[in-house]
Amino acid sequence: MKKIGVLTGGGDCPGLNPVIRAVVRKGINEGYEIVGIKNGWKGLIENDTMPLTLENVSGILPKGGTILGTSRTNPYKKPEDLQKLKDNYIQLDLDALIAIGGEDTLGVASKLINDGITNIVGVPKTIDNDLSCTDYTFGFDTAINIAMECIDRLHTTAESHHRIIVVEVMGRHAGWIATEAGIAGGADIILIPELPIDIDEVCNLIKRRHSRGKTFSIVVVAEGAQFKEGTFVVQDKKTDEFGHVRLGGVGEILAQEIEKRTGYETRVSVLGHIQRGGSPTAFDRILGTRFGVKAVELIKDKKFGRMVALSGNKIIDVPIEEATKVLKTVDMDLYEIAKVFFG
Ligand code: F6P
Repeated sequence: MKKIGVLTGGGDCPGLNPVIRAVVRKGINEGYEIVGIKNGWKGLIENDTMPLTLENVSGILPKGGTILGTSRTNPYKKPEDLQKLKDNYIQLDLDALIAIGGEDTLGVASKLINDGITNIVGVPKTIDNDLSCTDYTFGFDTAINIAMECIDRLHTTAESHHRIIVVEVMGRHAGWIATEAGIAGGADIILIPELPIDIDEVCNLIKRRHSRGKTFSIVVVAEGAQFKEGTFVVQDKKTDEFGHVRLGGVGEILAQEIEKRTGYETRVSVLGHIQRGGSPTAFDRILGTRFGVKAVELIKDKKFGRMVALSGNKIIDVPIEEATKVLKTVDMDLYEIAKVFFG
């Protein structure tokens, strides 16, 4: 029987389980056996796998996270790990591997393809929506809906207390979550990594609101926003296996600065991993399902080295390496729309 392996790597996000379910349902329909590889690339290094069957994917569609587990393991960190991965890959005798991940996981997939493990298909996931060649990654829609709801809630308390509330959202070095959740939640200012923060401008906008009788403001700031280009605020300077620092803390600095300069009472709310947890939205369930089915179709057609992607409302496929070459940052036309509502 032909065998497909599937793994989920990097930060989890809502929508991973719908992809796994779709791969299993479509794969079994097409006569494949499906092997789940646990905890991303780590599972291939340690030969840690589980069978995926109709039974164990039943009921997982609405569940957040991933039933396979995940990790930020980079097999290219240690030559011995890479060798173990290659040995286990041969031993598993897979006809194809589906790697579900963001820039790091798919970056490894791309390297493996160049190293001779060519039968890989990629599926793009991340709440950050920062992968090129796809209009959306699944996980993003759920994250912005969660952030939007939080912004709605923060509005009522900010208004009652006549306060400024700074809301720090995730997104790493792209401001997609901040921009879209900010627009949807009616933020009064949105600060993104793509444009250095101009603190004078931020305070002027807040004061302008006050002068027209609005004694509260919601400022959404992306965790990767910088006061000066190249100066991220980090929680931890230690890097992960892919060289990423842990971002976080810009909201607190911003809140202190706003309070100092305007004299208005200011609070900060850091949304953190809440944005990654819980049940996927209908959009992410459907996108994940379409991606999973398409991934199996690519395997059936032997179209390896490709990543499934969304273009308009069509599911297409693109070279994996193209998707990971450059970070997809915020479309400035969209940011201009957000700016209409500033202040
Ligand atoms: O890439 C997804 C993401 O949630 C980023 O927005 C954030 O910077 C990072 O992962 C957090 O990583 P961790 O879960 O390792 O703290």
